[in-house]
Amino acid sequence: MNVGIDLISFQTSQYFLDLATLAQVRGVEAEKYRAGLGQERMAVPPPDEDIVTLAASAAKPIMEKINSNDIELLLFGTESGVDQSKAAALFVHGLLNLSKRCRAVEIKEACYAATAGLQLALAWVQQHPDKKALVLGADIARYDLGSPGEPTQGCGAIALLISANPRLLVLDPETGFHAENVMDFWRPNYRTEALVDGKYSTLVYLSTLVDSWRQYRVATGRKLGDLARSCFHLPFTRLAEKAYVRLCREEKIPEPPPDEIQRKIGPSLLYNRQTGNTYAASLYESVAALLDNDPEDLSGQRISLFSYGSGCMAEFFSGVVQPGYREHLFAERHRRMLAERTELTYRQYEDVFRYHVPADGGDHVFAPYRTGLYRLQGIKQHVRLYAATT
Ligand code: HMG
Repeated sequence: MNVGIDLISFQTSQYFLDLATLAQVRGVEAEKYRAGLGQERMAVPPPDEDIVTLAASAAKPIMEKINSNDIELLLFGTESGVDQSKAAALFVHGLLNLSKRCRAVEIKEACYAATAGLQLALAWVQQHPDKKALVLGADIARYDLGSPGEPTQGCGAIALLISANPRLLVLDPETGFHAENVMDFWRPNYRTEALVDGKYSTLVYLSTLVDSWRQYRVATGRKLGDLARSCFHLPFTRLAEKAYVRLCREEKIPEPPPDEIQRKIGPSLLYNRQTGNTYAASLYESVAALLDNDPEDLSGQRISLFSYGSGCMAEFFSGVVQPGYREHLFAERHRRMLAERTELTYRQYEDVFRYHVPADGGDHVFAPYRTGLYRLQGIKQHVRLYAATT
């Protein structure tokens, strides 16, 4: 039976910082961020936006198209959790008014978490083809101010509806995957910003890509040329170019000219360049960007997906784009959301960065900023209070 992604919806915050502004303040050439990292803007969440509001806003357009009672599995991948015990999935479950007959849990393994959710959901849908699973990935990427990671910050959420006979992408059963205990990026419980060995992390990303690809190649007998497009986890979009070239080298294919690399990966980079790293959502943000923006009709074509989560987990897999997929995308919504964001000054960005949801145990009401379809209203008796904005 065919299983895979039936609908895909993306959400980011309504505010951004232009990286040219950050470069000027940091005394760095703007080209370093634009060309060297492949990033243009970073999404900045206001105080009343968090992973719950982002994920619920990503999922809402999907819910409007289906019978919510069909969802019996809700898996939420994140490394920006809002509670040490309660799953963020349950806040979203409530906001979306899902059926009580539903398993709802949170999954953690850095940026790989949503892929773990996806793979579990695919196996579950195989067993329950009349049901659907909702897989969410949402994160707020934070590094220390002035650190090399700072220009790669961002935030966003992805919602994937997983079903039998999906309308967008049938996922292939063969995958290559890799687990290894490495300290390339992590965030101890007492920190709000990640610790990272940046250069090392990119080396681990690329070496686990090669190992996962080799396994995938053995399992499928496919070659790089069998993959019409390649989507990657995108901590910064320049890494996708390096990853694709690395796969060519592994296959002993001469490095393709820039326009060929652009054809293979260019459209998949469009959204991430504008949001920055969205961790668990990042790979699927790039899938959404590809399907929304590739000028060619990809119906019947096989695309690859590479997921990487520091720590680390990696997985290389693929899927076949379904005929008629363009009729089932939220492309207009995605483009409008990115186009209508408000630009922050550097001072505003730093103020928002330094703001933290109060941890004093008191009651608080939060001022309303521009958010998606939901917002964090406040905290009362240690309980986070969420509400719809419309
Ligand atoms: P850096 O210190 O900015 O690195 O840190 P750099 O000085 O080498 O510069 C970066 C690139 O800009 C280089 O290109 C420079 O040449 C170029 P390359 O040599 O690599 O091809 N450059 C310029 N280009 C044009 N004009 C100029 C110019 N100047 C320099 N004037 C680093 C970069 C990525 C290490 C840093 O941003 C960082 O630490 N980022 C955070 C970690 C990260 O993103 N790691 C990625 C792999 S790990 C991962 O993906 C997992 C993650 O998403 C977390 C999770 O799993 O949850 C992070």
